[in-house]
Amino acid sequence: MNFSTEPFGQTAQGEDVFLYTLTSAKGLRARITNFGAILVSLEVPDRHGKLDDITLGFDHLEQYLEQKAYLGATVGRYANRIGNARFVLDGVEHKLAANDGPNHLHGGIKGFDKVVWKPVETTATEDQAWAKLGYLSPDGAEGYPGNLRCTVTYMLTNDDELRISYEAETDKKTVFNLTNHTYWDLARRGGGNVFGHELMLNATRFTIVDKTLIPVGVTASVVDTPLDFLAPKALGSRVRQLGNGYDHNFVLNGPLNALKFCARVYEPTTGRIMEITTTEPAVQLYTGNFLDGSIIGKAGKRYGRHAAFCLETQHYPDSPNKPSFPSTVLEPGQKFTSLTVHKFSAK
Ligand code: GLA
Repeated sequence: MNFSTEPFGQTAQGEDVFLYTLTSAKGLRARITNFGAILVSLEVPDRHGKLDDITLGFDHLEQYLEQKAYLGATVGRYANRIGNARFVLDGVEHKLAANDGPNHLHGGIKGFDKVVWKPVETTATEDQAWAKLGYLSPDGAEGYPGNLRCTVTYMLTNDDELRISYEAETDKKTVFNLTNHTYWDLARRGGGNVFGHELMLNATRFTIVDKTLIPVGVTASVVDTPLDFLAPKALGSRVRQLGNGYDHNFVLNGPLNALKFCARVYEPTTGRIMEITTTEPAVQLYTGNFLDGSIIGKAGKRYGRHAAFCLETQHYPDSPNKPSFPSTVLEPGQKFTSLTVHKFSAK
């Protein structure tokens, strides 16, 4: 396998930003930048072996510096929402930025998607190539306690997998929930919508939310609802019953912290298949409901509503305020680890 590094530009503060390219022997190619630890592109074959980039994103760093849609980004410290932008740990209230109505979304105003990560290691062996990036989020950043050191590793394998893994440590008790916010379009139309993709989700329950998308604290069964993807179904088959589209957090069946089946997506016109396994307990399915055509992406393509979908593996939203949800607390001395594997094939 191979890797290469090239300059991608500079931030307004003059920090150097790089683009790392990982290539597998079969030609799969991932591009990653250390700005926002963003997956810039991923090229995988269709059923005829034709490689296409199946992610939404931009050609230039400047567009990543300004974007608000988290295209391809590593999202933290807390992916998804924290209700009323506050939580209490050991009797102490921590106030966060309210950047989504009254709530805190995706780590705040300057989340992990908006900072420059340090290249830790980019290398390749016969069967794997990876880029490991690190970031130290200082105590108090966006309101969170603790100096938090974390890494994200993007690894491409000769088994046609993209493996995204995280590690983190803190020096004060804190909360933590990382995800990757890649927008997928396995048909790579760039325009139109992704409703023809067939989705299977290993989730019997989802978190019920209020109108600001904060969980009310209990889960419900997907059976007999438009959220039932236990058997494969076109993404668009029941979306009309939901109004704006999917933006829901599904509770994955299976062990809490072990690798388990999450989702399988099949795109019938190209034959591309993406299978996701994860150690995370839940996944947010988001169908690009807020894309409104104002973003002009790679090769000048305009990204409209529902032009892509995200499957963001993560903990349940608002867990810091929901004692009954699996814990997102990270203690000093603990090592946080998390792995999500995307395996590609075509039929
Ligand atoms: C997540 C959220 C959505 C939206 C997108 C980013 O998927 O659940 O509501 O905020 O990120 O636009």
